[in-house]
Amino acid sequence: MTIWVSAPAKTNLVLSVGPPRADGYHDLATVFHALDLRDRVGVRSGSVGSGVQIQVVGIDADSVPTDGSNLVAKAAHLLAAEFGLDPDVEIHIDKAIPIAGGLAGGSADAAATLVALDSLWHLGLSREQLEEFGARLGSDVPFSLHGGTMLGLGRGEHLTPILTTGDWHWVIAVSAGGLSTPTVYRELDRLRGTDAVAPPSIADGVLQALRSQDVSALGAGLVNDLQPAAIRLMPSLAQVLVEGDDAGAIAGVVSGSGPTVVFLARDREHAIDLAVILSASGLMRRVHAVSGGAPGAVIEAPGSGPNP
Ligand code: C5P
Repeated sequence: MTIWVSAPAKTNLVLSVGPPRADGYHDLATVFHALDLRDRVGVRSGSVGSGVQIQVVGIDADSVPTDGSNLVAKAAHLLAAEFGLDPDVEIHIDKAIPIAGGLAGGSADAAATLVALDSLWHLGLSREQLEEFGARLGSDVPFSLHGGTMLGLGRGEHLTPILTTGDWHWVIAVSAGGLSTPTVYRELDRLRGTDAVAPPSIADGVLQALRSQDVSALGAGLVNDLQPAAIRLMPSLAQVLVEGDDAGAIAGVVSGSGPTVVFLARDREHAIDLAVILSASGLMRRVHAVSGGAPGAVIEAPGSGPNP
């Protein structure tokens, strides 16, 4: 039997980045927001001694590693080692989240794998334990488990729910090519040079906007400290932001370390209209209208197959 778990893409409505830490990470104050663009991961027992076997289908499947470097393999080895099990498992990944886009697709797959293996291996892990294993795999994995809209502190792994009402509507504009997260952080440090860097913080206006469903105020509050670095590494992103503005988006911001840009829309119809205009520009590789505050990693109904 295969156990299927889906997990969402994420963006950061605020990404405030502090100075580099001694361990190479940066302290963040971020507002994570899960988008209803979901990867699906199916796990089933492999034959004895077969190890972790990975198959990938869907968006960007050819560029996803199927060896031990894939975060899903690391997730399987982590749990197997912790509980003294043989990691003989087949993992099927059905990708809808573009890779290397600043949408945490790899973290979504790792989160889904943790939830699926917890079920397959009858580990009975608590949410807190899953999050603790997730944080060992990557800074965004705990949020991929949770979903919704959350404040992230530390390197992003310390989470607190944020009160929001209703859904938010977005257009995801995916540029050709990817950006490596460490490279973008390094570029930010380089651009900042020897200037003193303030501790990361979140303006109250954004939290109020989320509480009161004030689309204009949220648009005014979208901010990403990594954006100048991502634009420096991929100058065409500046043009993508202008295209979204011209098309009538409330606001746009680079998602995480980029190069995906997310545009805020008034409502679902507005998001679909924007997506049509942006698709026609031909500047982006993919364009999706999606809603946010999506659930985190969840087990799918038994018998559900891969994405249609
Ligand atoms: O935690 P994760 O493996 O996803 O992070 C990838 C890279 O992104 C890190 O190696 C680091 O270079 C950078 N990063 C950072 N500060 C964070 C999160 C990530 O510098 N808070």
